[in-house]
Amino acid sequence: MADTLSYELRINGEVLSVASPATATLLDVLRYQLGMTGSKRGCNQGVCGACTVLLDGVPVRGCLTLAANVGERAVTTVEGMSQGGTLSRVQQALLDAGAIQCGFCTPGVVVTLEAFLRDHPKPSADEVRHALSGNLCRCSGYVKIVEAAVIAAGAAP
Ligand code: FES
Ligand code: FES
Repeated sequence: MADTLSYELRINGEVLSVASPATATLLDVLRYQLGMTGSKRGCNQGVCGACTVLLDGVPVRGCLTLAANVGERAVTTVEGMSQGGTLSRVQQALLDAGAIQCGFCTPGVVVTLEAFLRDHPKPSADEVRHALSGNLCRCSGYVKIVEAAVIAAGAAP
């Protein structure tokens, strides 16, 4: 195909070869070419945050990021948050707090909170709410998600 590009992506510590249309988003490549379906496709226009991944540690919208433009930057997805089958502190806290209902927003919330807590080790509940302002959850009302973030902040990193 004329507009197919071949390139590599660094995802969760692995270098993966990709061939995609030049216009493919990182979200589409993750989900539909690499089978990494943890990142969710909600609005597909940058609003809901369900597709959030980290680029060199910074949260970005996978649906607004052209995969071919990622280059050498390290991509971290929700699949990269647990280590050897052990959930990250945020994942564990979300479970412990009962903060997961349908779960559609959860991967984006996990990724966002991991980056936020790295930079804000002891946040207030208001700071957590602000950090989550780009992650829409239509089930939970956020109360338990915020509670989980505070629990996670109290846990060992
Ligand atoms: Fe990317 Fe909603 S799917 S922000
Ligand atoms: Fe359903 Fe957040 S738990 S959208």
